[in-house]
Amino acid sequence: MMQKPTLATTLFAFLLLIHSSLALKEGQTCVADRNCDSGLHCETCVANGNVRPRCTRIQPINPTSKVKGLPFNRYSWLTTHNSFAILGQKSMTGSVLLSPTNQQDTVTSQLKNGIRGLMLDMYDFQNDIWLCHSFGGQCYNYTAFQPAINILKEIQEFLEANPYEIVTIFIEDYVTSPKGLTKVFDAAGLRKYWFPVTRMPKNGGNWPTVDDMVKNNQRLVVFTSKSSKETSEGIAYEWRYLVENQYGDGGMKVGSCPNRGESPSMNTTSRSLVLVNFFRDLPDVTKSCKDNSAPLLSMVNTCFEAAGKRWPNFIAVDFYKRSDGGGAAEAIDVSNGHLVCGCGNIATCKANMTFGACQLPEAEATPPNEAARDSSFGIRNYQPIDLLWYFSTTVFGGMLVAL
Ligand SMILES: *[C@@H]1O[C@H](CO)[C@@H](O)[C@H](O)[C@H]1NC(C)=O
Ligand SMILES: *[C@@H]1O[C@H](CO)[C@@H](O)[C@H](O)[C@H]1NC(C)=O
Ligand SMILES: *[C@@H]1O[C@H](CO)[C@@H](O)[C@H](O)[C@H]1NC(C)=O
Repeated sequence: MMQKPTLATTLFAFLLLIHSSLALKEGQTCVADRNCDSGLHCETCVANGNVRPRCTRIQPINPTSKVKGLPFNRYSWLTTHNSFAILGQKSMTGSVLLSPTNQQDTVTSQLKNGIRGLMLDMYDFQNDIWLCHSFGGQCYNYTAFQPAINILKEIQEFLEANPYEIVTIFIEDYVTSPKGLTKVFDAAGLRKYWFPVTRMPKNGGNWPTVDDMVKNNQRLVVFTSKSSKETSEGIAYEWRYLVENQYGDGGMKVGSCPNRGESPSMNTTSRSLVLVNFFRDLPDVTKSCKDNSAPLLSMVNTCFEAAGKRWPNFIAVDFYKRSDGGGAAEAIDVSNGHLVCGCGNIATCKANMTFGACQLPEAEATPPNEAARDSSFGIRNYQPIDLLWYFSTTVFGGMLVAL
């Protein structure tokens, strides 16, 4: 039934109009993603007691937009764990999917949002290579997501359209068919971006610079969990180049950052890259906003110490978009600040600055009222427009729903 607009709905629509044109900053109250500035989206984090929808960060600052030309291992990249296991997805076998899911959006969307590391589980299945979440190295209809080539093609399209970007793939490798991985990467058109194993530093040295990788179009770094494939197919064995902490619940214990079984200990500096995992055994979309916030930042600091004072080059999480504010993107910005320019956050790095000559971080430069407003639900700190906004979204919003 159509109703004449009431004063309340008119006012609400008007407020929505002016508010959405303001492009809200991190922490400000919102009703929809489009209200928020770029790189942010609108959400609550009920697991942390944050029921007010606020703009939260999903996209890290692209570190090469701040300081170009450093070795690849001097940057940190946001990585999705089980990038292919997307909430609400059906198995392409047509079967019901019983596997848990770890992310909310497609790989194309992840890449658009600044994800540069992808963790993919690959299996032989139906005479092809499939992305699967399984047990015993065997893929089943009800644990199979889709053929790997689909996602590899999404990566190919991204690399094609973004000639300055570098993507890293971590394969949890259950493929035993001869040259199975080689065939699927070739079929996806990814060969021409391949970063060769021969150029990877073997003794803790620096990687080639990102400029060099871009210039040579060697913008796809691929690691496998199977050591034999380095010789047989030229796919780098992950733990020859990288240290990695324990994944799952075992990697979420406050103050401890042990290596995962397959990895050398975190402080092994003959491995130039450091990867920090921070996600639960059982992915939990509700709790992930809490995990991806203060506990993640804390673990990044713990792992920095454990890794012989090295900041992570990759941070891998579930539901990367979810947080109570800065989230996994902020953890990357912090790591990049330290790696790229010796500051607490990449936001304060400037082109050609002396390493460590940091300006006052933006957060500290914010007036106290602003800071309080962003981090708590203290209504008294709200500016009038926000107060009005708050009441219009809750009270009038409620009325709208009631209508
Ligand atoms: C698995 O799915 C395929 C189609 O992708 C179908 O042909 C096959 O019969 C299914 N197997 C089982 C055991 O359901
Ligand atoms: C490196 O870490 C291991 C624990 O994983 C520890 O036993 C060892 O003492 C550390 N080595 C150095 C040089 O700190
Ligand atoms: C940084 O240095 C490079 C080379 O010395 C120069 O081309 C560039 O303009 C400088 N950038 C800034 C922002 O000063």
